[in-house]
Amino acid sequence: MRVGKKHYKTVWFSKGTVYLIDQHKLPFKFKIVRSRTYQATAKAIKDMVVRGAGAIGVTAGFGLVQAVYACPLYLKRAALLSRVKKAKQTIDSTRPTARNLFYATERVWEAVKANAQSVLMARRASEREALSIAKEDEEAGKTIGMIGEKLIHQNMGIMTHCNAGWLAFSDWGTALAPLYVAKRKGKKFFVFCNETRPRSQGANLTAWELGNEAIPHAVVADTSAGSLMQQKRIQMIIVGADRIAANGDVANKIGTYQVAVLAKENNIPFYVAAPLATFDKHIKSGRQIPIEKRSGNELFNRKWFKALQKSKVENFAFDITPARYIKGIITERGIIRANRHAIQKNLS
Ligand code: MRU
Repeated sequence: MRVGKKHYKTVWFSKGTVYLIDQHKLPFKFKIVRSRTYQATAKAIKDMVVRGAGAIGVTAGFGLVQAVYACPLYLKRAALLSRVKKAKQTIDSTRPTARNLFYATERVWEAVKANAQSVLMARRASEREALSIAKEDEEAGKTIGMIGEKLIHQNMGIMTHCNAGWLAFSDWGTALAPLYVAKRKGKKFFVFCNETRPRSQGANLTAWELGNEAIPHAVVADTSAGSLMQQKRIQMIIVGADRIAANGDVANKIGTYQVAVLAKENNIPFYVAAPLATFDKHIKSGRQIPIEKRSGNELFNRKWFKALQKSKVENFAFDITPARYIKGIITERGIIRANRHAIQKNLS
């Protein structure tokens, strides 16, 4: 990620410490936070200091490595595994929806189990595995960028929802990666950034990223999507994904579903961009994807929230877009159709 003249990753690991770009502070302040224990890393995921499926996954993997580092060298296999298992449960319980989190902790856990003869071996193996996950996440984003770029034509209006860019992965991103590649190739296009509620990630994060890349864009209220489509200002939509079911249904930031339905009504292609790590072959359809509900406090400031005392506030973080609304899923293996057969073929 380009910030000024420097290249940053959203998350990285060095000598037992996890480094994160503090996404609470953007776009006002660019700050790196250090997390030295797995408990602190789990809290950073839960509180959304780091967010976005890929970035959560990479961070979770590093968090589990920190748990292995915290084990004294004299521990025997059973004690080591019991401590790391507890840490895995803590990390797994931070956020339920993004598949990438569980994908990463499962991989690191398997590496620990296979090397639990000594704590030293488990440390080395877990770190190696977590670093591979980070590298694969970055490479998948880059490839998705190159594949998705071909869909972008001169002077297109493109809508994206939420943030599936650099900040949602360790680098590059998914939905925004094709835009970065197209920009580097000299293509001209305009981006409309949604998600101004519930968390304003379109306004706070996507607009900040696009600004850094000098890509022309506008932040729009989520309620503008239909009207913009009706006015023919949008020729394509690309969004990210937090989890993709075996039948091609997609969980993404709340509000995605209505954009997809509006796109169908207006005959606009709706693409999802995601790495294979986001697919969950054990989940048959979107109905089974766990949808996170966050505190109502996040929707309103304190004064406002107090005034709503007599109301129930429900803050859903994600929704499900049924596969039938999706033109294609841009992955590191190519653009695949959102159906069971195509997904099965590409996952095996
Ligand atoms: O709640 P978040 O910010 O962790 O949710 C993730 C998202 O920002 C979006 O849903 C995104 O489009 C998919 S993550 C690559």
